[in-house]
Amino acid sequence: MTAQTHWQAWHEPYADEGSPLSRRLRLVQQHIASWLDQRSDERLTVVSACAGQGHDLIGVLASRPDAQRVHGTLLEYDAGNVAAARAAADQARLSNLVIKQADAGQLSSYVGAVPADLVLMVGVFGNISDADVKRTIAALPRLCAEGASVIWTRARRAPDLTPAVRGWLRDAGYVEEAFHAPDDVRFSVGVHRFEGAPQPLDAAGTVFTFLH
Ligand SMILES: C[S@@+](CC[C@H](N)C(=O)[O-])C[C@H]1O[C@@H](n2cnc3c(N)ncnc32)[C@H](O)[C@@H]1O
Repeated sequence: MTAQTHWQAWHEPYADEGSPLSRRLRLVQQHIASWLDQRSDERLTVVSACAGQGHDLIGVLASRPDAQRVHGTLLEYDAGNVAAARAAADQARLSNLVIKQADAGQLSSYVGAVPADLVLMVGVFGNISDADVKRTIAALPRLCAEGASVIWTRARRAPDLTPAVRGWLRDAGYVEEAFHAPDDVRFSVGVHRFEGAPQPLDAAGTVFTFLH
């Protein structure tokens, strides 16, 4: 038996449908599903940074008859979570998803996976320094195709960074389509659409490092 890592155990509240993490997941999944509905005729590309076990994207695609038009790369560092995501993708027959064990803070990890039509930054911004959040947002135009959407999350523990996050996204060329910040929980979920010009991926450099 392998030791359960912190980041595998982190996923346990998903087993409780009433947990804040499950509520956050449902919001993220609703936005992934509406994005698919809005872009109904196209072959689409998704990249998920720090994808964990892939509950959001895999959970949506598993029940979509049009799942095969989605080509996605899930970047995840933890070997156990990579194995869990691969098993879930295999079970759902999502042959166009690549689950890559890689450091999503390194731009080189995105080679071949971008430009993406949807970038998932879910469970990332709360685990890195504020400076790294700003740096990562500034780098998003290198990951995004024209008209791409970004779905992101951030806990609103004090001092709440989400006003700054939303401002940095605006400065980087993104228009806010949704922002959920329920009163009774700390999580928030944002959806932004890219209206700027995509930039080439300069595959060198680190945009973030996890603090824990
Ligand atoms: C807060 S969890 C979020 C998981 C998933 N996105 C979700 O919301 O269900 C953060 C994940 O990032 C992974 N991780 C940590 N540092 C990473 C890195 N540098 N590159 C890729 N994944 C990383 C952890 O193993 C963990 O699975």
